[in-house]
Amino acid sequence: MTIAQAVKWEERVMRAAHPVVYPLLQTARRPVLRVPGLGVLVRDAGLLRSTLMDTATFTKTGPGSPSDLWTPVLGPAVLLNMEGADHLALRRKLGSLFAPAYVEPLAAASLPVSQLTQRLMAGETVDIVAEVKRYASAMIAQLVGLPLESIDEELFDRVSSITRFVRLARPRLTPAQVGVARGILDELTAHARTAYRSGDEQTVPGRMRALGLTEDEAMGAVGAFVLTGTETLVSYIPRLVAVLVDSGWLPLIAADRSLAEPAIAEGLRVTTPSPVMLRSVVARGSIGPVAVRPGDRVILATYAANRALGPFDPGTNVAAQLKQLWFGAGTHFCLGAPLAMAQIRLTLDALLDAGDLRIVSRSAARGVLIPSYASLRVARA
Ligand code: HEM
Repeated sequence: MTIAQAVKWEERVMRAAHPVVYPLLQTARRPVLRVPGLGVLVRDAGLLRSTLMDTATFTKTGPGSPSDLWTPVLGPAVLLNMEGADHLALRRKLGSLFAPAYVEPLAAASLPVSQLTQRLMAGETVDIVAEVKRYASAMIAQLVGLPLESIDEELFDRVSSITRFVRLARPRLTPAQVGVARGILDELTAHARTAYRSGDEQTVPGRMRALGLTEDEAMGAVGAFVLTGTETLVSYIPRLVAVLVDSGWLPLIAADRSLAEPAIAEGLRVTTPSPVMLRSVVARGSIGPVAVRPGDRVILATYAANRALGPFDPGTNVAAQLKQLWFGAGTHFCLGAPLAMAQIRLTLDALLDAGDLRIVSRSAARGVLIPSYASLRVARA
């Protein structure tokens, strides 16, 4: 097991997801450059952060930005397609939903992780991707207010079929794709609407009502959480496990749990599950030496920037200097980060409790937006 093995598999996962764009992004050597047909490409962590912080010049609402992609599906006011005072007000209202006191029990309820340890201890081979998909489906159920017994892992697959439509070179969905995506989300938000109207604070939509969100705001937020918050975890947790096993770090961390937090941060840095962020330029400005003008599309290549800082190493933990750039920066910093971290910690703890692991077989997912394994079967070493 070596770092080279970890790097080789990470490459495969990225290429399987984006066979054309990923190699293209890798050939770019300069920190900022204009790529005809794509936009202004930024692959330096410092420049990336300053672009994210400058919301007067770079927004998520102009042409080629996430709002072009998601507004037709999710509606006009769902955080990730908003800026300014309205955005801030909605984030404030949602704030307490992501406080540790709320997300930790929410994560614990949807993750039957003790069974994961027991199954591995009993000698079973477990597909970590299938396992985390089940957790993600349970999380979606909680977010939309469905009882946990009524769901299966297909719920996750239905949701992720929406993001499969997105390609970097195609900034909008076709009308047919919008129709399919809306159908899937409408089905989910139908449950969320019932939960919202009942006002039952045990459900997430009911809690949103108590926090002062209108019904439309709550339905938009549910859609945004389901779309942004489930695939990233189904991508990240198996990739973290693979990196830990490939690099030989897993038994070291099992023996010294104080290394678990640096390992999670380093894993997030080298995998950067949301590999690219998009912005639209609304005022003249520059990114490093490259001048930008209104209408330009900016591609923030977070994965490339984070990886450029070296291979996975919880010992040195270069991730610590990045202020969690893998969750973004500034006003759009990932709202779900506390929930994501709670789920990651619970799953990693359960795996570490099972002792040293080996990878029995694996395959990378093809043609997906968020690079992931299609399967990662592990057993006790
Ligand atoms: C490892 C897991 C995750 C990663 C790597 C991740 C990454 C990100 C990134 C990079 C952004 C900023 C995008 C930008 O500025 O363009 C973001 C925003 C967001 N994330 Fe996450 N995310 C994760 C999990 C979650 C979860 C579990 C949820 C909720 C259930 C969630 C909800 C959101 C929302 C609502 C936004 C939009 C915030 C805004 O625009 O104000 N994310 N995420």
